[in-house]
Amino acid sequence: MSILITNIAELMTQDAEQRVLRDVAVVIEGERIAWIGAAAGAPAADEAVDAGGRAVLPGWVDSHTHLIFAGDRTAEFEARMAGESYSAGGIAVTTGATRATSDFDLTRLALGRVAEAVSQGTTYLETKTGYGLDVENEARSARIASTVADEVTYLGAHLVPAGADAGEYTDLVCGPMLAAVRPYVQWADVFCERGAFSEDQSRRVLQACREAGLGLRVHGNQLGEGPGVRLAVEFGAASVDHVNYLAAADVEALAASWSGWNAGDGAAGGSSGSGPRGTVATCLPACDLSTRQPLAPARELLDAGVQIALASNCNPGTSYTSSMAFCVTTAVLQMRLSVQEAVRAATYGGALALGRERGNDVDGERAVGSIAVGHRADLHLLNAPSATHLAYRPGIPLTHAVWRAGVPQRV
Ligand code: NIG
Repeated sequence: MSILITNIAELMTQDAEQRVLRDVAVVIEGERIAWIGAAAGAPAADEAVDAGGRAVLPGWVDSHTHLIFAGDRTAEFEARMAGESYSAGGIAVTTGATRATSDFDLTRLALGRVAEAVSQGTTYLETKTGYGLDVENEARSARIASTVADEVTYLGAHLVPAGADAGEYTDLVCGPMLAAVRPYVQWADVFCERGAFSEDQSRRVLQACREAGLGLRVHGNQLGEGPGVRLAVEFGAASVDHVNYLAAADVEALAASWSGWNAGDGAAGGSSGSGPRGTVATCLPACDLSTRQPLAPARELLDAGVQIALASNCNPGTSYTSSMAFCVTTAVLQMRLSVQEAVRAATYGGALALGRERGNDVDGERAVGSIAVGHRADLHLLNAPSATHLAYRPGIPLTHAVWRAGVPQRV
C-alpha cells in the first residue's frame, strides 16, 4: 500500500541538512518513507492525500514520560501554585495509588495517555517504571509499560520508599528488582538528587544496570546543582534529563561527550549522524513551569555544542501533560530556541536520546525522528502553513493528521 501526500506548504525534514522544503510531495510505502521530491515529478500511488497547503513535520519523539500510574495529585499542584516548593515526596502518593490498582486498570489508564499523546502528534514514545518501588510492582509496571510504549526505562531508583533503609533499597534495585524487570526494559534511570539517590547510590544503580545490558539515563540537576550530569557523562548515558541547574563544568562535560560525533554523514541514508553518541541533555519545559523551577538552559547548551531533546515528562506530579507542542512553544517563547531548533529537539533530539535516530539493519528497525527516504513514516501534518505557527499561535491545537509507521492515527 502506498500513499502520495501532495500540496504540502512546508516539509521540515529534521535530517542532517535540516531542510525546509517547499513544492515537494512525499510517498509512504508500508511503514517507510519511499520517496521525497518535487511535487511536479511525484510518482503514482495507491492513495493520494491532499495536505491542503499545510506543513508536515516528523512525528514528535517523546523520550521522557512516566505513564504507568494511578491516582491524582491535584492537591499537591494547588499547594505548589500557592507557593509550596516541589519535593519528590509526592511520588509516594502515586506509588500507593498505583499499587492499589489492577493490571487491567493500569493498562487502560496508560493506553489512554498514549492515545492522548498520539492524537497530538507523538509517534514514538518512551515511558518509565518508578511508581511501583517494590519487586512485584516494578515488574508489573515494566510489563504493562512494554505493552503500551515503544521503549521502557526501569526507574526503581525513583524514591527510597518510606521506612526503607536507603542502602538496602539500593541493593534491592540493583539485585532482585533489576532481575524481575529485565525482560521488559531496554533502559535504566536513576533520580540522582538530594532527597532521592546520592552519588554513591546512583553509581551503584548505573553500574548494575549497565552490567545487566541496559542503556542508561539519569534524572539529574533538577532541584539544584549536583553530580547527576557528571555521572551521566562518566557512564556514557544516552541522556541526562531535567538539567535545570548546571555548573560551567557540567555544560563542558556534556559538550565534550559529543566531540567524536558527526551530525551529517551517518550510515543510514547519510542523514542520521555517525560516530559515538554523547549524552543528550533532555529539557522538560512543561515540568519546569509546573514546578516553578528555572527553565533548563537549552540555549546555552545548544550554543556549547550539546545535543538536546525536548520531552513532555508526562507524570502526575511535576508535568501532567503529554503535549509536545506545548514544550516546543515554550522552548521558542521562553528558552530562546528558534522554531527549527525546538522542533528538532522534539523529534530528532528525542530519537537521539533513545538511540533511534539511525536505522538498524540487524533487527530491521527504521530511523525515527526525521523525514528521509528509508526512515519510518512517522509524519505530523499541522493545521497551519508552517511550523512557526506552533509558537506564533500558542495554545491552539494544530495537529491535523498523524501517520505512525505509515498508519493513519486517530487525532
Ligand atoms: O521527572 N524527578 C523525578 N521524577 C518525576 C516526578 C515524579 C513525581 O513527582 O511523581 C520528574 O519530574
